[in-house]
Amino acid sequence: MDGNGRWATHRGLSRARGHEAGVEAIRRIVEAAPDQGVGTLTLYAFSTDNWRRPRAEVAALMTLLRFYLANEVESLVRNGVRLSVIGRRDRLPDGIASAIARAERATAGGAALHLRIAVDYSARDAILAAAARVAGMANLTREAFSALVTGEAGLRDVDLIIRTSGEKRLSDFLLWEGAYAELHFTDRMWPDFDAQDLAEALASFHRRERRFGGLAALALEPAPSL
Ligand code: FPP
Repeated sequence: MDGNGRWATHRGLSRARGHEAGVEAIRRIVEAAPDQGVGTLTLYAFSTDNWRRPRAEVAALMTLLRFYLANEVESLVRNGVRLSVIGRRDRLPDGIASAIARAERATAGGAALHLRIAVDYSARDAILAAAARVAGMANLTREAFSALVTGEAGLRDVDLIIRTSGEKRLSDFLLWEGAYAELHFTDRMWPDFDAQDLAEALASFHRRERRFGGLAALALEPAPSL
């Protein structure tokens, strides 16, 4: 969800206001995603490296997360959205970890969209934690290791990673599960990202020939995972 800060600066607004506009974009895209055939949507809200940002910006982001968890659950349930949060929870400000657990329980029955929000997330740390748990385990399968990395059994690999605001990096996001992800880069700032941008990213995805290291073109599955 890159570009919140620059979007705000270009308008003479505070970076915090840019993040608020980012939350409005989240609402738009969560609503649009199921209609466009997206089954799972993972949003990168706060990376482990984002703790390095000024204290006031971190506090503003945590406040937005707290508000989102408090106010959005009802609409998520109404729209059949299952929410889960990936990343570390032990360093979040007081009350957020329990709010996450409550929101996950309340939305557990959602089947229209699986919304995953990455908070205090580092893909390398997720892989490291999984590796630490399996040290010495024999006959470990990729599937079993995947479940440890992603925190969930049976999650399909990520099909498409969309990076907004012209950035062209992976930035420690979904490194294991995105091994064969198609990459889509757009100059659009996240607060401006809308259903049409999502449709363009998906159209570009559907034009790709995915070979997964093989030779023949493989059929694309209908519900891509982002
Ligand atoms: C990247 O833009 C965006 C973030 C680091 C924060 C995204 C978080 C939210 C939109 C709100 C909190 C999350 C939820 C789920 C309520 P940037 O700050 O790097 O922008 P820039 O590249 O223009 O500086």
